[in-house]
Amino acid sequence: MGYRIAVVGATGNVGHEMLEILAEREFPADEVAAVASARSAGREIEFGDERLVVEDLEGFDFAGYDIALFSPGAKVSAVHAPRAAEAGCVVIDNTSQFRMDPEVPLIVPEVNADAIADFAGRNIIANPNCSTMQMVVALKPLHDLARIRRVVVATYQSVSGAGREAMDELFEQTRAVYANEVLDRKKFTKQIAFNVIPHIDVFLEDGSTKEEWKLAVETQKILDPDIDVIATCVRVPVFIGHAEAVCVEFDNPITVEQARQALAAAPGISVIDHRVDEGYVTPVESAGEDAVYVSRIRKDETVEHGLALWIVSDNLRKGAALNAVQIAETLIKFYMRKAA
Ligand SMILES: NC(=O)c1ccc[n+]([C@@H]2O[C@H](COP(=O)([O-])OP(=O)(O)OC[C@H]3O[C@@H](n4cnc5c(N)ncnc54)[C@H](OP(=O)(O)O)[C@@H]3O)[C@@H](O)[C@H]2O)c1
Repeated sequence: MGYRIAVVGATGNVGHEMLEILAEREFPADEVAAVASARSAGREIEFGDERLVVEDLEGFDFAGYDIALFSPGAKVSAVHAPRAAEAGCVVIDNTSQFRMDPEVPLIVPEVNADAIADFAGRNIIANPNCSTMQMVVALKPLHDLARIRRVVVATYQSVSGAGREAMDELFEQTRAVYANEVLDRKKFTKQIAFNVIPHIDVFLEDGSTKEEWKLAVETQKILDPDIDVIATCVRVPVFIGHAEAVCVEFDNPITVEQARQALAAAPGISVIDHRVDEGYVTPVESAGEDAVYVSRIRKDETVEHGLALWIVSDNLRKGAALNAVQIAETLIKFYMRKAA
């Protein structure tokens, strides 16, 4: 007996990846429903060898569904995730809507899988932001080794992190530059083609952006509330894959070799760090892959116990869809097993 799964936001970047990963990992589903807005209702989309007809979220009945993977945007999740949860379906939500709700566990299975146990309060589990996700996977084994005190991070985030329309905008602007045409701006505040933009999500009163705030508070919720994080989040003209330059300060001594060994032994991480041309990973190579890649591991001599790292991952996979499916796999393994 398999599970009944709904994928909400199935026509989007993350939803598309969710369907692909559910099929790829042979998730034990008896039925998968593809759900999106009225705009896409009736459209057919692929799921493995099958084709699914997209259903309209407004009229969708979650009763009888075991798990719903949500990525329709925060405002839509705010309305429909609690509706699904009340119908008895466990929601794994990819949006920012519930991440900091104290009753909702915020989960990266490689880091805090045990916290899933708290899902029953609201029947909702939150997936962190893509930039947080890859960073905490890499920080966890280092924190276990030498206790992290402070993190200074600059991100290089691909346009797919802002959805399908953002990918189209990079494509269209790039084409327009070559064709010597006027550049159209819709999703981004400045030109993204051949440029970088130090502004993701809205500005907050202290001058930081909400993306930077999320990276700090989500790291604290998932890994340790005592870790200080200062972030600068930057959008770059890359289609898929986020990179992060991270400086980590520790309470205790840690060598580059100890860090390298701990990272290589940790789940979900691939260390590629050869200190020669091509001996590191860039976002383009991470696209379509599951791992969080760590390169450029070196000592930060400006603090007593410090390391600098380069962390890269596919933001649509580990940064979103893969993590959600891993949470679903943990749920069915430990918390909602069906009788054979
Ligand atoms: N992309 C990432 O790296 C990433 C990572 C982590 C979290 N997230 C979060 O995941 C969410 C989706 O991101 P995305 O990149 O997949 O965006 P996207 O490509 O723009 O897709 C949005 C999806 O939501 C659906 N949707 C929009 N309004 C809806 C409504 N009123 N009712 C039902 N469905 C609706 C869309 O359906 P239609 O096709 O019918 O419009 C589409 O399936 C966002 O909250 C984002 O912050 C994204």
